[in-house]
Amino acid sequence: MAADQKQAARTIQRRTQPMKIELNKAELEQFDGDLLVYFLKETGGNAVLCPCKVLRRNIKYAWKSGDFSGKKGETFLFYPSAASKDIKHNLAAGRVLAVGLGKISEQADALREQLRLAAGTAAQQAASLKVKSLLAVLPENTGLSDADVAECISEGLLLGSYRFDRHKSKKKDDEPVTKIEAMALHAADLDQDAVKQGLHRGERAAKAVCAARDMANEPGNVWTPKRFAEFGEKLAKEHGLECTVINKPEMRKLGMGGLLGVSQGSAQQPKLVVLRYQGSEEKKAPTLMLVGKGLTFDSGGISLKSPLHMEEMKYDMCGGAAVICALQAIAEEKLKGINVVALIPAAENLPSATALKPGDIITHFGGLTSEIVNTDAEGRLILADALAYGIATYKPTAVVDLATLTGAVIIGLGHHRSGLLATHEELASQLTAAAERAGEPVWRLPLGPEYSKQIKSTVADIKNSGGKEAGTITAAAYLQEFVGDTPWAHLDIAGTAWSFTEKSYVPKGPSGIGVRTLLNLVRAWQPIATKQP
Ligand code: BES
Ligand code: MN
Ligand code: ZN
Repeated sequence: MAADQKQAARTIQRRTQPMKIELNKAELEQFDGDLLVYFLKETGGNAVLCPCKVLRRNIKYAWKSGDFSGKKGETFLFYPSAASKDIKHNLAAGRVLAVGLGKISEQADALREQLRLAAGTAAQQAASLKVKSLLAVLPENTGLSDADVAECISEGLLLGSYRFDRHKSKKKDDEPVTKIEAMALHAADLDQDAVKQGLHRGERAAKAVCAARDMANEPGNVWTPKRFAEFGEKLAKEHGLECTVINKPEMRKLGMGGLLGVSQGSAQQPKLVVLRYQGSEEKKAPTLMLVGKGLTFDSGGISLKSPLHMEEMKYDMCGGAAVICALQAIAEEKLKGINVVALIPAAENLPSATALKPGDIITHFGGLTSEIVNTDAEGRLILADALAYGIATYKPTAVVDLATLTGAVIIGLGHHRSGLLATHEELASQLTAAAERAGEPVWRLPLGPEYSKQIKSTVADIKNSGGKEAGTITAAAYLQEFVGDTPWAHLDIAGTAWSFTEKSYVPKGPSGIGVRTLLNLVRAWQPIATKQP
């Protein structure tokens, strides 16, 4: 077996941390694991609200010395066994960590994010303390539902303890790697059933996000288009989904000049992975189509990129990862009343004697021709085929695509928001709400004929770059040519798929952005008007 294949065989199976959280029913005082975590609000006064007597006493001193007042990100660690023996009901935990939540926000989405951030901080501390077992006490009276509290704390804990060390060899004299083996929530007076439901929602979401991060972390020589196909087939088997992989010969028959053109300089065969989830038998049930850019390495092709940070272009498949992993979570959650079809066009963009050249003209699925003025504007080429083919084949109610499409979106929005471009108001607002709820904010940019004009070609129907100005919008305008009247929204995640805003629950590297936004969108799907006024 070739080294690459061997490495590939190891991928994904070996998870780096437990993706399970238990619900603890025993008395808190009896928890004798390594770390007991409390999340405390900033009250402004000297009395940090805290249900535990031993902790209250310690907190008072910490507050007096100005060390801890429950502010966002503040932590305070102490050892209960060092507490005076005259305290009855002392805690059996090895350590207690108090994490500040900050002042409780009145806005639900902001508050959810506060909880995720605090739980992420706890996960980071747990990792540096090398704890093996952790019990987190869910905060009460936050204003959120009990299920939401459990969901956000679970997400923060699991997402914050993500590590990727699969390719680091273990030296003999290394200390044994300590990883959290057991995580649990304590839900004191909260509704246990609601907590369990929220906890499972958080687990499923985090598991899918970590799977997307794993795919992205894998280098281009491991995570190839073929791997997307294999992952899709595995998902289909596990969850009774329908998976079809369109290979090169069929692409030729279908006339997918974009996917064929982009991949023609690479030894890796392109794949179009199609996965279908059936959440309803009803004829009238909506079908949501998700499309994700799965460019497993983008060198730029003949319009070669500069070597500076070129290695980051292994992340150019993050849209595809988000879509396929969101489908995993949707299938695990068995969401009802909606059908979802996911398409991942996957290819590698390399320069070679057979590569696409500037000036070449290709024909997309459906017949539209395109002049290639820059081979580095390849994402739109593979997405165009997938969008046109998916819409013609599955006649979806609405389409959402995710892609690390333009450097220009980083100039416009930095690493803090993804760009949103859409042809349908209700779809745009549902997607915006889903993104806010996930703590993955988006910002809308316009579309319009003046932008579409920028990609008119003198020798073909369109060209694949509209120049420097409004680069994110003209890239979306290119995609717009392929969606017809179907309600469509596009997320440009080039700035957020990695180097995302610094957050405790998002370790450096790929963020897994989009997975939870898409999951929230499907969870809360509302019918949309097909024709807009
Ligand atoms: N994958 C890149 C976009 C990208 C750039 C993502 C930087 C993340 C960070 C995309 O394929 C690309 O190269 N786009 C070009 C388009 C241009 C040639 C019209 C770009 O943005 O420079
Ligand atoms: Mn490119
Ligand atoms: Zn690209």
